[in-house]
Amino acid sequence: MSESDLPVPSIPNARDAVRALRPSQIREVANAGFGVDDVLPFWFGESDRVTPAFIRDAASAALAAGATFYTHNLGIAPLRAALAGYVSDLHGATSAEHIAVTSAGVNALMLAAQLVVGAGDRVVAVTPLWPNLVEIPKILGAHVETVALGYGERGWQLELEQLLAALTPGTKMLLINSPNNPTGWVMSRDEQRAVLAHCRRHGIWIVADEVYERLYYADASADATGVPSRTAPSFLDLATRDERVICVNSFSKAWLMTGWRLGWIVAPAALMDDLGKLVEYNTSCAPAFIQQAGIAAIEQGERFTQELVRDLKASRDHLVRALGTVPGVDVKTPPGAMYLFFSMPGASRSLELCKAMVRDVGLGVAPGSAFGPQGEGFVRWCYACDTARLDAGVERLKRFLAEHATAQ
Ligand SMILES: Cc1ncc(COP(=O)(O)O)c(C=O)c1O
Repeated sequence: MSESDLPVPSIPNARDAVRALRPSQIREVANAGFGVDDVLPFWFGESDRVTPAFIRDAASAALAAGATFYTHNLGIAPLRAALAGYVSDLHGATSAEHIAVTSAGVNALMLAAQLVVGAGDRVVAVTPLWPNLVEIPKILGAHVETVALGYGERGWQLELEQLLAALTPGTKMLLINSPNNPTGWVMSRDEQRAVLAHCRRHGIWIVADEVYERLYYADASADATGVPSRTAPSFLDLATRDERVICVNSFSKAWLMTGWRLGWIVAPAALMDDLGKLVEYNTSCAPAFIQQAGIAAIEQGERFTQELVRDLKASRDHLVRALGTVPGVDVKTPPGAMYLFFSMPGASRSLELCKAMVRDVGLGVAPGSAFGPQGEGFVRWCYACDTARLDAGVERLKRFLAEHATAQ
């Protein structure tokens, strides 16, 4: 028998765990908008503004100076040192040996999961949640159980007892994202204290996704000092640096650097050698000239971030007011992140609704079901843009609802 007579193997498939991953419903809505000329996109989690010039200039200068080589797996020393200073300033003493530079937040989440969980491990996540957090541990064969935030008069709230009950002694890792995408919920200091104590008792790892920590709109009057807090409550404020707590962060949101792919991890020093190996086998390092730009963001970017937060707060309040005038829309003012997650007529089938809105009136928002079954009944609108654009979006929403009311 010649080689050409051998039977051709059946069509190859990816591993079952990969095939079972949920595709992005946000992309599904965006695809439904193909062919619609005039779409106002509020579906992705990024601003419509470019990265500030001082950061772009730093990257150009680094490129011109030849920063084109591989770096240390854990990042260049000056960036790790700058990040250690930044984290110390916000959350208390942190040394560079607790910092690893990553290729943005999503890579940091993958690295954290690869460090801690394996096939068959039990992971608990608080939802609704940006889908990447839930899907990443599944790639590694872990089982993810979810605990839903409750929704009521005060907006989204954690059912603390429910979460503690789900964190059974055999649980390997808790995934918690605060300020939260999509709801804007912010975990309180007391809730963090209770969860940390519980996880310490049972040896459970906490992986805290704090990429929106700076997008926090604290009411200054609620603070005895009268000064708004520069950051949301963080597990880093409570935990020591050498216990089972890994914090994930990113340059994407606080310095408008989504396309740059730069982030960091704060983790116990004892993990760093192993984390370095994982970085080596995933990406080897973040690009050198982008790390240089990260130093500029940290060292010169504080005023920019504070102004950004002020603008985002104004946009949030503007959109809450505007949506409040739309019949059937129930919207609350969330304390963090850059999204409104609200209910409206038709949202009980949010994917169909969002596809219809983009097709019929060119309004691009994300379906609540993209953030897990607990998000069904809601839609997510990213308000990181100017108010004129938000107003144009609300007009389209009104038109859509009027057309559909008359069509019924
Ligand atoms: C909750 C959350 N975590 C992490 C990320 C990752 O962002 P990046 O990979 O751009 O740093 C995002 C992005 O939207 C997010 O919403």
